[in-house]
Amino acid sequence: MSAVPGALRVGVVGCGGIARSHGRAYAANPRVQLVAAHDVNPASAKGFAEEFGAAACDSLADLVAQDVQLVSVCTPPGSHTATTVALLELGVSVLLEKPPTVNLADMDLIAQAEAASTGSVYVVFQHRHGSGAERAHRLLADGSLGVPRVAVCETLWYRPESYFDPEWRGNWAGEGGGPTLGHGIHQIDLLLHLMGEWTTLDAMAARIARPVEFEDVATATVTFANGARASVVTSLLSPKEVSRIRIDTTAGTLEVDHLYGYSDADWSWFPLPGADRVAANGSDPELAGGNSAGGDGGTDVWTASAGVDRPSQHAAQIDELVDDLLAGRPHATTLASTRPTMEFVTALYASALGGTSITRQDLTPDLEFYRSLDGGLPAQQVSARLGSGRFAPA
Ligand SMILES: NC(=O)c1ccc[n+]([C@@H]2O[C@H](COP(=O)([O-])OP(=O)(O)OC[C@H]3O[C@@H](n4cnc5c(N)ncnc54)[C@H](O)[C@@H]3O)[C@@H](O)[C@H]2O)c1
Repeated sequence: MSAVPGALRVGVVGCGGIARSHGRAYAANPRVQLVAAHDVNPASAKGFAEEFGAAACDSLADLVAQDVQLVSVCTPPGSHTATTVALLELGVSVLLEKPPTVNLADMDLIAQAEAASTGSVYVVFQHRHGSGAERAHRLLADGSLGVPRVAVCETLWYRPESYFDPEWRGNWAGEGGGPTLGHGIHQIDLLLHLMGEWTTLDAMAARIARPVEFEDVATATVTFANGARASVVTSLLSPKEVSRIRIDTTAGTLEVDHLYGYSDADWSWFPLPGADRVAANGSDPELAGGNSAGGDGGTDVWTASAGVDRPSQHAAQIDELVDDLLAGRPHATTLASTRPTMEFVTALYASALGGTSITRQDLTPDLEFYRSLDGGLPAQQVSARLGSGRFAPA
């Protein structure tokens, strides 16, 4: 394939479902040339390559030989580490699908390989990149929306038993973790991105109904460094599905309520009535950061900051990444920036399966959960913690 001057040359590894979202975003971006695809299943690589006008490659080395600068890794979670390390050793950058890895040990292995490579690793957390989240992140960071006090983070989804039919689903070996790692992680990542550093976590995980080795429902109570508290719920048993984050601050309530991707219309800001007057008069130090217009008319800071609506699809992050790479700028969603999310997920399993509170300081390589999210516990012990539900391990 002939080179397009000035375009970023990209490849895709793992040509299944989500690879299509990468393929479509690359195809729609005139500054990108999607040149190569690889899959352990050659027929999948061929089908994807034909769909997007790329070359089907038999190996990672063959893919990199197509002179690619960035490779999307869209393989199942358990193969993320080996694939990403191999690509870094071949000197290319990687856009790695969530969850970046299935444990912190693997994440640190990738970080070591990244430090030794000319390539860099970016992680797909597309919900950080929609215009709503970018606005919320900026206005919370500069205090315009007040100081967070309480938050609720819900991933209430529904997956029937048949969802777990594929051999790699429903077990620790294939998925590395349950819905907290595979599904709730999107909302958890966004919550942490908006709220900042968490310090302590207490969790419960239960296997109520699905034929899986891990949880089908989990809840956590979290304390943040600034004293705020959050409740986090992830479920695969919830018929009316919703993905929701609500943050109550000293100046109002910020909320995003969507399912698999939001637009600006899915965000709302409810200013504390009269917060602007109180803040202006300086009568309440709690409200010093809040400058919203309250319920007294006028345009509040959230509404006033609205710009171009960019839904939180893959294209939102991919377009930003392409612009950053071509301009030689750093891209925000690095591997390192997603470690707190993996720490949170690790702490949730350690707390739920170990029956104890977990702080970030507990998450050292000495902790079994650092190496695997089941903590290396025997299946019977995991079952005792989760409740055996309808699934009894042999
Ligand atoms: N960001 C999102 O919203 C989102 C949504 C769905 C899935 N995902 C993530 O995308 C990844 C893939 O999920 P999917 O639903 O597309 O899975 P999938 O099963 O549809 O596709 C995976 C593909 O990878 C191939 N593969 C497996 N091992 C490989 C290896 N070692 N080398 C090369 N190819 C390999 C398989 O043959 C298959 O074609 C997972 O990490 C998943 O969590 C992200």
